[in-house]
Amino acid sequence: MILNEEQKAILNGEKGENLAKVLESVIRYGELFGAEKLVPVTSKYNHLVTSFGLKAMGPVYDLMGKLIQEGVASQQKFSVDPRPCDPNVPKNFLQNFIFNNFMYTKQESYEKQLKELGLMDENAFTCACYLDEVGNKPQKGDVLSWAESSAVVYANSVLGARCNRNSGIIDIMGSIVGYVPYFGLVTDEGRKASWIIEVKTEKKPEAQLLGSAIGMKVMEDVPYIKGLDKWLGTELDDAACTYLKDFGAATASNGAVGLYHVENLTPEAKELGEDLILEGAQVYVIDDAELQRVYDNYPVIWKDENAKPKLCFMGCPHMSLQQLKDWTEKLEEGLKEAGNKKVVIPTVFTSAPAVIEEFKKTEYAKRLEATGVILSYICPLMYMNNPLCGKMPVITSSNKLRTYTTARYYTDAEILQQITKGGVK
Ligand code: F3S
Repeated sequence: MILNEEQKAILNGEKGENLAKVLESVIRYGELFGAEKLVPVTSKYNHLVTSFGLKAMGPVYDLMGKLIQEGVASQQKFSVDPRPCDPNVPKNFLQNFIFNNFMYTKQESYEKQLKELGLMDENAFTCACYLDEVGNKPQKGDVLSWAESSAVVYANSVLGARCNRNSGIIDIMGSIVGYVPYFGLVTDEGRKASWIIEVKTEKKPEAQLLGSAIGMKVMEDVPYIKGLDKWLGTELDDAACTYLKDFGAATASNGAVGLYHVENLTPEAKELGEDLILEGAQVYVIDDAELQRVYDNYPVIWKDENAKPKLCFMGCPHMSLQQLKDWTEKLEEGLKEAGNKKVVIPTVFTSAPAVIEEFKKTEYAKRLEATGVILSYICPLMYMNNPLCGKMPVITSSNKLRTYTTARYYTDAEILQQITKGGVK
């Protein structure tokens, strides 16, 4: 690795032993991927993937403690992934006991460390940190040191920032030293597409299903998607960004996509068009039948496939303000049609604390509350990691939650049907 004078000085311990170790870790990480140099992190804020105070993360707390002691604050303020627990989310006595005694027992002290290292503010716990209300929205061309896969794919694809799919802890290390290795999605060449996706559906494809199909096909490669602008338009308005948020999270979790281009819509595709496509790129055609095939192949891992759902989670990644408003209207309509006053399955919508704060200022807040839906800031995955919660029949329209937990996937329309009327179709 070629280092500049400043980097050499840090590595020689001139700014402390622990900072030297942090830089060494970043260098070794880069060398594994063949990086020959480091480049400066240029975004205003960082984002960390590790938000939860799990007992088992002892070495992380030790490292953070040493950095704080040595006065090494992060060069950037940062947001972090959602908190793992919220008293408002339904749980029984035993589930609660496990949460409180065996799982996130270090949450309080960990949050204290995060504050000392440079947490943006009390509200900065969300994976959708790029939403306007949260304020951690990188600029086009910014180099980031993020790791949260759903945020990385959004920042790269929708915002045109540059970031690899780093692992947790490497994200804070890059932010602390102010450098990341130059490889993969940080380079021009690494942002080119080796897949062409042709969307040929008769109706607007479900974001979470389309993302899943593409993720499973291309894995960690970069896809160039044609035909989606027919359904999303050519401007990155609120509706398109929300769609791409959910779509991208599915590509990143059902596969390992860190960047996609949508023809005539995402910034680099608008600028460079088909010049982004590598010679010999493979082609994957997606029509309605292909999406149905993907859906039908999801395994149901509930003990009893016909069990009545006990809980529904929406908002993985966290819902946007517009999504909360739209769902409030859809719920009201669905409940009215069914002759019900409240949802018939306990349902939790999750969103960023700052978005929830804004939502509460609107007339929609009371209306959503009246439907019986609980609004929370947690990460549903952290909830499902409790073995007793994982045993429950939980439904969701998040393909990320389906992939990592026992939750069962349904399309948005099916979820609406289930929670307002009960049963599908
Ligand atoms: Fe966000 Fe947690 Fe889902 S971090 S994307 S809500 S798994």
